[in-house]
Amino acid sequence: MNLIFLGPPGAGKGTHAQRLMHEFGIPQISTGDMLRQAIKAGTPLGLSAQRYIEAGELVPDEVVIGIVKERLQAEDCQKGYILDGFPRTVPQAEALSQFARIDMALNLSLADEVIIRRLSGRRVCSQCGSTFHTSNLGGKDTCPKCGEKLVQRKDDAPDTIRNRLNVYAVQTAPLIDYYEGQGLLRTVECDPEATADETYLQVKEALGIA
Ligand code: AP5
Repeated sequence: MNLIFLGPPGAGKGTHAQRLMHEFGIPQISTGDMLRQAIKAGTPLGLSAQRYIEAGELVPDEVVIGIVKERLQAEDCQKGYILDGFPRTVPQAEALSQFARIDMALNLSLADEVIIRRLSGRRVCSQCGSTFHTSNLGGKDTCPKCGEKLVQRKDDAPDTIRNRLNVYAVQTAPLIDYYEGQGLLRTVECDPEATADETYLQVKEALGIA
């Protein structure tokens, strides 16, 4: 199955895409992760993307379209994939339709105030990439899984989160109508009180694989 995960920053796209990847063995393709890895490695792609990401703006369409097109040609994508954070604009969606056949677009919907709370407390392991919330860390700044240092993403600063939400509303939310018009959209209204396990079950129900 070829899936798209849509939704505002912090709605849980990465969390649930990773769970599906581990349960069903199909790769999660996160353009955000790919761009952050390029920044860490200091590649030309990373150097050009860094200022957009740190400001909470979108990286230019032609850059992300190129990296996704190349990634989807890899062997591990031939039995399906989960696109997490791509497409993010209508031109990206139109480009994608030229080189991929999408089966479903899953939209995770969550209120802005919950997103701000989740993202401002999010910490990411610098080694294994696992994410945690400060409320579950008991004041520790090391990864409960591998013991390495936890860091805050630069774009999880409060002003940048607000900008990312604005960018989402203007540039990405139109994709909800775009995929609805194609009969591919499923929406999960995420309950802010639900655990990640409970939301994951809702995700699988929406995809028809529970
Ligand atoms: P990207 O990395 O894709 O960031 P994002 O879309 O802003 O999404 P996040 O990773 O912040 O959140 P998420 O929805 O994955 O939520 P998560 O599962 O972590 O992109 C970063 C930047 O890269 C962009 O701003 C842009 O500059 C650039 N970029 C990327 N793709 C691009 C594209 N296609 N075009 C142009 N530019 C692009 O969950 C959030 C937190 O909530 C976690 O701590 C998690 O543990 C917690 N959580 C999740 N679910 C639950 C639950 N049910 N209960 C409690 N906590 C939960």
